[in-house]
Amino acid sequence: MNAASIPHADLAALLKWYVDHGLDEAIGEEAVDRFAALPPPAAVPSPAAHSQPMAPTPIRASTPPPAVRAPVPLESPQLVEDARELARRCATIAELEEAVRAFEGCALKRTAKNTVFADGVPGAPVMVVGEAPGADEDRLGKPFVGVSGQLMDRMFDAIGMSRERDLYITNILFWRPPGNRTPTLAEQAICLAFTRRHIELARPKLLVLAGGTAAKAVLDTTEGIMRLRGKWTTLKLDDGTEVPTMPTFHPAYLLRTPASKRQSWLDLLAIEQKLRELAVQ
Ligand code: URA
Repeated sequence: MNAASIPHADLAALLKWYVDHGLDEAIGEEAVDRFAALPPPAAVPSPAAHSQPMAPTPIRASTPPPAVRAPVPLESPQLVEDARELARRCATIAELEEAVRAFEGCALKRTAKNTVFADGVPGAPVMVVGEAPGADEDRLGKPFVGVSGQLMDRMFDAIGMSRERDLYITNILFWRPPGNRTPTLAEQAICLAFTRRHIELARPKLLVLAGGTAAKAVLDTTEGIMRLRGKWTTLKLDDGTEVPTMPTFHPAYLLRTPASKRQSWLDLLAIEQKLRELAVQ
Protein backbone atom coordinates (compact mmCIF):
# COMPACT_ATOMS: atom_id res chain seq x y z
CA MET A 1 0.00 0.00 0.00
CA ASN A 2 1.38 3.47 -0.78
CA ALA A 3 0.48 6.73 1.00
CA ALA A 4 -1.61 7.96 -1.98
CA SER A 5 -4.15 5.16 -1.45
CA ILE A 6 -4.63 5.87 2.30
CA PRO A 7 -7.58 8.17 3.16
CA HIS A 8 -6.49 11.67 4.30
CA ALA A 9 -8.29 11.31 7.63
CA ASP A 10 -6.21 8.19 8.41
CA LEU A 11 -2.96 9.95 7.48
CA ALA A 12 -3.92 12.94 9.65
CA ALA A 13 -4.70 10.57 12.55
CA LEU A 14 -1.33 8.86 12.07
CA LEU A 15 0.50 12.22 12.08
CA LYS A 16 -1.33 13.24 15.27
CA TRP A 17 -0.32 9.92 16.85
CA TYR A 18 3.32 10.61 15.92
CA VAL A 19 3.18 14.11 17.47
CA ASP A 20 1.48 12.79 20.62
CA HIS A 21 4.38 10.34 20.96
CA GLY A 22 7.02 13.03 20.61
CA LEU A 23 7.84 12.46 16.93
CA ASP A 24 7.40 16.06 15.85
CA GLU A 25 10.21 16.43 13.39
CA ALA A 26 11.52 14.78 10.23
CA ILE A 27 15.26 14.23 10.41
CA GLY A 28 15.76 13.37 6.76
CA GLU A 29 14.30 14.45 3.43
CA GLU A 30 13.43 10.89 2.36
CA ALA A 31 11.27 8.52 4.41
CA VAL A 32 13.14 5.32 5.28
CA ASP A 33 11.11 2.11 4.96
CA ARG A 34 12.69 0.04 7.71
CA PHE A 35 10.37 -2.90 6.91
CA ALA A 36 11.65 -3.20 3.36
CA ALA A 37 13.59 -6.40 2.64
CA LEU A 38 17.29 -5.99 3.33
CA PRO A 39 19.58 -6.27 0.29
CA PRO A 40 21.27 -9.69 0.06
CA PRO A 41 24.67 -9.77 1.80
CA ALA A 42 27.63 -9.08 -0.50
CA ALA A 43 28.95 -12.34 -1.96
CA VAL A 44 32.13 -13.57 -0.25
CA PRO A 45 34.44 -15.24 -2.79
CA SER A 46 34.91 -18.87 -1.86
CA PRO A 47 38.46 -20.27 -1.88
CA ALA A 48 37.34 -22.66 -4.67
CA ALA A 49 36.57 -19.70 -6.92
CA HIS A 50 40.29 -18.80 -7.16
CA SER A 51 41.63 -20.03 -10.43
CA GLN A 52 45.22 -19.21 -9.45
CA PRO A 53 46.94 -21.11 -6.61
CA MET A 54 46.87 -18.93 -3.50
CA ALA A 55 50.10 -17.39 -2.24
CA PRO A 56 51.28 -19.01 1.01
CA THR A 57 50.29 -16.98 4.06
CA PRO A 58 53.39 -15.24 5.44
CA ILE A 59 54.25 -16.46 8.90
CA ARG A 60 54.97 -12.91 10.02
CA ALA A 61 53.64 -9.80 8.35
CA SER A 62 56.50 -7.59 7.19
CA THR A 63 54.88 -4.50 8.76
CA PRO A 64 52.75 -4.65 11.89
CA PRO A 65 49.06 -3.84 11.31
CA PRO A 66 48.22 -0.21 12.14
CA ALA A 67 46.81 0.28 15.62
CA VAL A 68 43.15 0.93 14.80
CA ARG A 69 40.95 1.92 17.70
CA ALA A 70 37.58 0.24 17.33
CA PRO A 71 34.78 2.82 17.20
CA VAL A 72 33.56 3.40 20.74
CA PRO A 73 29.83 2.61 21.07
CA LEU A 74 27.91 5.82 21.75
CA GLU A 75 26.81 4.59 25.19
CA SER A 76 30.30 3.63 26.35
CA PRO A 77 31.67 4.89 29.70
CA GLN A 78 34.88 5.59 27.75
CA LEU A 79 33.10 8.54 26.11
CA VAL A 80 32.46 10.10 29.51
CA GLU A 81 36.17 9.76 30.27
CA ASP A 82 37.05 11.27 26.87
CA ALA A 83 34.69 14.19 27.50
CA ARG A 84 36.14 14.77 31.00
CA GLU A 85 39.69 14.73 29.66
CA LEU A 86 38.86 17.10 26.78
CA ALA A 87 37.02 19.46 29.13
CA ARG A 88 39.84 19.39 31.70
CA ARG A 89 42.32 20.53 29.04
CA CYS A 90 40.25 23.65 28.21
CA ALA A 91 41.53 26.77 29.94
CA THR A 92 38.89 29.23 28.73
CA ILE A 93 35.19 29.22 27.90
CA ALA A 94 36.07 29.84 24.24
CA GLU A 95 38.25 26.71 24.21
CA LEU A 96 35.51 24.72 25.89
CA GLU A 97 32.94 25.89 23.32
CA GLU A 98 35.30 24.82 20.53
CA ALA A 99 35.79 21.41 22.17
CA VAL A 100 32.03 20.88 22.59
CA ARG A 101 31.33 21.88 18.98
CA ALA A 102 34.01 19.47 17.73
CA PHE A 103 32.94 16.59 20.01
CA GLU A 104 31.41 13.64 18.14
CA GLY A 105 30.83 11.32 21.10
CA CYS A 106 27.22 12.21 21.91
CA ALA A 107 24.51 10.51 19.83
CA LEU A 108 22.23 13.54 20.20
CA LYS A 109 24.49 15.59 17.96
CA ARG A 110 23.52 13.41 15.00
CA THR A 111 19.88 14.47 15.04
CA ALA A 112 20.24 18.05 16.28
CA LYS A 113 20.36 21.01 13.89
CA ASN A 114 22.68 23.08 16.10
CA THR A 115 25.01 22.88 19.07
CA VAL A 116 23.44 25.03 21.79
CA PHE A 117 26.30 26.18 23.98
CA ALA A 118 25.35 29.26 25.99
CA ASP A 119 23.82 32.72 25.98
CA GLY A 120 24.22 35.81 28.13
CA VAL A 121 27.43 37.14 29.63
CA PRO A 122 30.30 34.71 30.34
CA GLY A 123 31.49 35.53 33.85
CA ALA A 124 28.11 37.03 34.89
CA PRO A 125 27.28 36.79 38.61
CA VAL A 126 24.47 34.28 38.05
CA MET A 127 24.78 31.15 35.89
CA VAL A 128 21.59 29.28 35.00
CA VAL A 129 21.77 25.63 33.97
CA GLY A 130 18.67 24.07 32.37
CA GLU A 131 18.03 20.65 30.93
CA ALA A 132 18.22 20.52 27.13
CA PRO A 133 17.50 22.62 24.08
CA GLY A 134 13.96 22.35 22.69
CA ALA A 135 12.87 22.89 19.09
CA ASP A 136 13.28 26.71 19.19
CA GLU A 137 16.70 26.51 20.83
CA ASP A 138 17.80 23.86 18.34
CA ARG A 139 16.70 26.07 15.43
CA LEU A 140 18.33 29.24 16.77
CA GLY A 141 21.38 27.70 18.49
CA LYS A 142 20.74 29.51 21.80
CA PRO A 143 19.41 28.22 25.13
CA PHE A 144 16.05 29.27 26.56
CA VAL A 145 14.74 31.28 23.63
CA GLY A 146 11.33 29.55 23.33
CA VAL A 147 8.26 30.17 25.49
CA SER A 148 9.82 28.80 28.68
CA GLY A 149 12.91 30.96 28.11
CA GLN A 150 10.71 34.01 27.65
CA LEU A 151 9.04 33.26 30.99
CA MET A 152 12.48 32.87 32.57
CA ASP A 153 13.53 36.28 31.18
CA ARG A 154 10.41 37.90 32.65
CA MET A 155 11.03 36.27 36.02
CA PHE A 156 14.62 37.51 36.25
CA ASP A 157 13.49 40.90 34.95
CA ALA A 158 11.23 41.10 38.03
CA ILE A 159 14.38 41.17 40.20
CA GLY A 160 16.14 43.60 37.84
CA MET A 161 18.33 41.03 36.07
CA SER A 162 18.75 40.34 32.37
CA ARG A 163 20.70 37.93 30.17
CA GLU A 164 22.35 40.92 28.46
CA ARG A 165 23.94 42.06 31.75
CA ASP A 166 23.67 39.68 34.70
CA LEU A 167 23.06 36.11 33.52
CA TYR A 168 25.01 33.36 31.82
CA ILE A 169 22.72 30.59 30.57
CA THR A 170 23.40 27.04 29.47
CA ASN A 171 21.97 23.51 29.70
CA ILE A 172 23.38 20.17 30.83
CA LEU A 173 22.86 18.97 27.22
CA PHE A 174 24.23 20.81 24.20
CA TRP A 175 21.99 19.07 21.67
CA ARG A 176 18.23 18.65 21.45
CA PRO A 177 17.03 15.11 22.18
CA PRO A 178 14.87 14.11 19.17
CA GLY A 179 11.20 14.77 19.88
CA ASN A 180 12.27 16.21 23.27
CA ARG A 181 12.60 12.69 24.64
CA THR A 182 14.24 12.28 28.04
CA PRO A 183 18.02 12.15 27.55
CA THR A 184 19.62 8.83 28.48
CA LEU A 185 21.88 8.72 31.53
CA ALA A 186 24.87 8.19 29.21
CA GLU A 187 24.00 11.30 27.18
CA GLN A 188 23.63 13.29 30.38
CA ALA A 189 26.93 12.01 31.81
CA ILE A 190 28.86 12.85 28.63
CA CYS A 191 27.52 16.41 28.38
CA LEU A 192 27.76 16.93 32.13
CA ALA A 193 31.52 16.44 31.94
CA PHE A 194 31.66 19.58 29.80
CA THR A 195 29.02 21.42 31.82
CA ARG A 196 30.90 20.97 35.10
CA ARG A 197 34.02 22.44 33.48
CA HIS A 198 31.79 25.20 32.02
CA ILE A 199 30.76 26.17 35.56
CA GLU A 200 34.39 26.10 36.75
CA LEU A 201 35.48 28.38 33.92
CA ALA A 202 32.50 30.77 34.19
CA ARG A 203 33.06 31.15 37.95
CA PRO A 204 29.57 32.50 38.76
CA LYS A 205 28.83 33.87 42.21
CA LEU A 206 25.63 31.82 42.20
CA LEU A 207 24.34 28.87 40.26
CA VAL A 208 20.64 28.37 39.50
CA LEU A 209 19.54 24.90 38.43
CA ALA A 210 16.31 25.07 36.44
CA GLY A 211 14.26 21.90 36.87
CA GLY A 212 14.65 18.44 38.33
CA THR A 213 16.80 16.93 35.58
CA ALA A 214 19.45 19.66 35.81
CA ALA A 215 19.34 19.64 39.62
CA LYS A 216 19.71 15.86 39.90
CA ALA A 217 22.48 15.69 37.30
CA VAL A 218 24.58 18.61 38.53
CA LEU A 219 24.15 17.83 42.23
CA ASP A 220 24.48 14.08 41.60
CA THR A 221 21.46 13.27 43.72
CA THR A 222 18.32 11.20 43.38
CA GLU A 223 16.32 13.76 45.40
CA GLY A 224 13.44 15.30 43.40
CA ILE A 225 12.99 18.99 42.62
CA MET A 226 10.02 19.25 45.04
CA ARG A 227 12.43 18.61 47.90
CA LEU A 228 15.45 20.39 46.45
CA ARG A 229 13.93 23.70 45.32
CA GLY A 230 14.21 26.78 47.44
CA LYS A 231 17.13 25.45 49.52
CA TRP A 232 20.68 26.67 49.11
CA THR A 233 23.24 23.98 48.59
CA THR A 234 26.94 24.12 47.76
CA LEU A 235 28.28 22.70 44.53
CA LYS A 236 31.88 21.51 44.91
CA LEU A 237 33.73 21.44 41.61
CA ASP A 238 36.78 19.36 40.69
CA ASP A 239 39.09 22.41 40.92
CA GLY A 240 37.96 22.97 44.54
CA THR A 241 35.60 25.85 43.71
CA GLU A 242 32.45 25.97 45.83
CA VAL A 243 29.41 27.66 44.33
CA PRO A 244 26.22 28.52 46.25
CA THR A 245 23.50 26.77 44.27
CA MET A 246 19.73 27.19 44.15
CA PRO A 247 17.61 24.48 42.51
CA THR A 248 14.30 25.88 41.31
CA PHE A 249 11.33 24.84 39.16
CA HIS A 250 11.82 24.70 35.41
CA PRO A 251 9.90 27.50 33.63
CA ALA A 252 8.19 24.87 31.41
CA TYR A 253 6.76 23.37 34.61
CA LEU A 254 5.56 26.82 35.69
CA LEU A 255 3.78 27.26 32.36
CA ARG A 256 1.89 24.03 33.05
CA THR A 257 1.42 24.70 36.77
CA PRO A 258 1.07 28.49 37.24
CA ALA A 259 0.18 28.04 40.93
CA SER A 260 3.83 27.07 41.56
CA LYS A 261 5.02 30.51 40.43
CA ARG A 262 4.55 31.67 44.01
CA GLN A 263 7.35 29.31 45.17
CA SER A 264 9.56 30.34 42.26
CA TRP A 265 9.09 33.97 43.24
CA LEU A 266 10.40 33.10 46.72
CA ASP A 267 13.42 31.41 45.06
CA LEU A 268 14.08 34.56 43.03
CA LEU A 269 13.90 36.72 46.14
CA ALA A 270 16.37 34.37 47.85
CA ILE A 271 18.72 34.73 44.85
CA GLU A 272 18.47 38.52 44.98
CA GLN A 273 19.15 38.47 48.74
CA LYS A 274 22.16 36.12 48.40
CA LEU A 275 23.71 38.35 45.74
CA ARG A 276 23.35 41.33 48.09
CA GLU A 277 25.02 39.38 50.90
CA LEU A 278 27.90 38.29 48.63
CA ALA A 279 28.39 41.88 47.43
CA VAL A 280 29.09 43.13 50.97
CA GLN A 281 31.47 40.29 51.88
N1 URA B 1 14.34 24.01 28.36
C1 URA B 1 15.61 23.89 28.83
O1 URA B 1 15.85 23.22 29.83
N2 URA B 1 16.56 24.52 28.17
C2 URA B 1 16.36 25.26 27.10
O2 URA B 1 17.30 25.80 26.56
C3 URA B 1 15.03 25.38 26.64
C4 URA B 1 14.04 24.74 27.27
